[in-house]
This record gives sequence, C-alpha cells and structure tokens, in this order.
Amino acid sequence: WALSGRSDERPPLYLHLLPRLHLCDERTRPRHHAEPSARLWRCRLLLERQRVDGGVEHTPCQTIGVMMLKPNVSKNEIVYFVGDITTLAVDAIVNAANCRLLGGGGVDGAIHRAAGRDLLAECRTLGGCETGAAKITKGYRLPARYVIHTVGPVYSGSASDAELLRSCYWNSLDLARAHELHTIAFPAISTGVYGYPKEAAAEIAIVTIREWFDEHPDAGVRVTIVSFSAQDDAIYQNIQRALR
Ligand code: APR
Repeated sequence: WALSGRSDERPPLYLHLLPRLHLCDERTRPRHHAEPSARLWRCRLLLERQRVDGGVEHTPCQTIGVMMLKPNVSKNEIVYFVGDITTLAVDAIVNAANCRLLGGGGVDGAIHRAAGRDLLAECRTLGGCETGAAKITKGYRLPARYVIHTVGPVYSGSASDAELLRSCYWNSLDLARAHELHTIAFPAISTGVYGYPKEAAAEIAIVTIREWFDEHPDAGVRVTIVSFSAQDDAIYQNIQRALR
C-alpha cells in the first residue's frame, strides 16, 4: 500500500484497516467515524508487475479504500457520538444484550445484523451472561474488532438496579483492558427495552467510567458514549456539565 494524501507525514505505525473498504474521496469522508482526531488517508494500491527484463514496475490503481489511522490513545478520556454504534471502527463496541446472548431487538439486533451469522455462532459457545457481567467475542463483519456483550438490569426501581448497571460499565472496561483494547464504545445500556430512566442511567455511566479511569490512570482508554438521538446526547451533555 502506498499512502497518498499528506505524504510529507509518516503515518503512525498502527494502521487500522477497516474490514470493509469504503470507496471514498476527500469530499465524502465517512461521517460516522467516531474519532475526529483520526486522520483518513486515501490509499492507493500499487500493482506490482514483474517486467520481462526482470525489473519491477508499479502501476498505481484507482483509490480503492480508506484506512483509518488509529491515533495513539495516550490518556483516558470520554468522547460523545450521536449515531449508530455498529458503524464505529473502534477496538470494541459494547452490546446491550440479554442473558441468553442469542440476539434480540434494539442495539443487540443491530449489532447481530451488522456482524453477521458468525457472531451468533460464537455467542452460542458462551453459555449466556449474568446481569452486570460482560463477555467478549470477535466483531466479524463489523468495523469494530470486538463486541463486548453485557446485560443491563431490567429497571425495577430497586436499589440493586444502579449497582448492576454500574457493573456493566465496570466489567466491560475491565474486559477491554484485559484484552489490551484502547477504544471502546458504549450504547446507553438498559435505557431502551429494559426501561432504565435515561438521566439516572447516564449519570451512572459517566460516574462509573470516571471512577474506573481513577483506578486505572495509565490505561490509555478512549470511551465513546454513543447516543442514538440528539435528545439522548443532550442528556449526557447536561449531566457531564453538572458533574464537573
Ligand atoms: N446504535 C446506538 N444505540 C442504539 C442503537 C444503535 N444501532 N439501537 C438502539 N440504541 C439505543 C437505544 O436508543 C437505547 O438508548 O441503545 C439503548 C439501549 O436500548 P436497547 O437496545 O433496547 O437495550 P436495553 O434497554 O439494554 O434492553 C436490552 O433489549 O434488544 C433487546 O436483546 C436485547 O433483551 C435485550 C434488551
């Protein structure tokens, strides 16, 4: 691969090649990439031909894809994204699953649809997942490398709800760290079918992630909190400001 674009800069060693290359040019850079600081480079495949005289010629082909450079995540941070979590090219996206881990609706359904049948096949080997726990699979056809499946509490108003929801975030981050992952995206766990009030859930999410950062100051993890609507994102923004 020869990188065109800003050839004066050497790209960082770590290139994250999207599993599905997008035909792209500068004007239509994907809207969905989660990491604004990531640089998208137009990549050109050089076709190497052996000449009859033994020499080698390189014939540039059309631009065939976009590589997302995974910027080094040097410090723990939370970023916010509004959109479909299945489009994010991060190390892991978190699935708001159910205890059976065999798919469902909402974000669970979206992730399974985008990942393809192999995800369900691997989930079948996991033997389910307890509420508050987290398990990891590969991402298959997703841009994300892994899926961390966690099961949020079905909201009941009892004291254990908050602790179980907190465990989802904490255990997912522990699992990401155990696999040396540095970019992880969370949906708003339990706030859909499971009925958790969005404001209370958002506060638990932000507080738990920050406390996990305090416990692992050198983890170098970027957490993307994903909202499926601007209204949901506004809830996070208000709580983030209130917690400053
Ligand atoms: N990308 C990002 N967020 C999404 C997406 C998506 N593609 N689809 C839905 N969401 C948001 C919803 O708007 C909600 O805020 O994810 C949040 C969680 O909603 P659910 O997916 O309903 O998850 P949850 O409330 O945890 O309920 C889990 O629902 O889908 C079933 O199998 C799942 O039984 C499990 C239960």
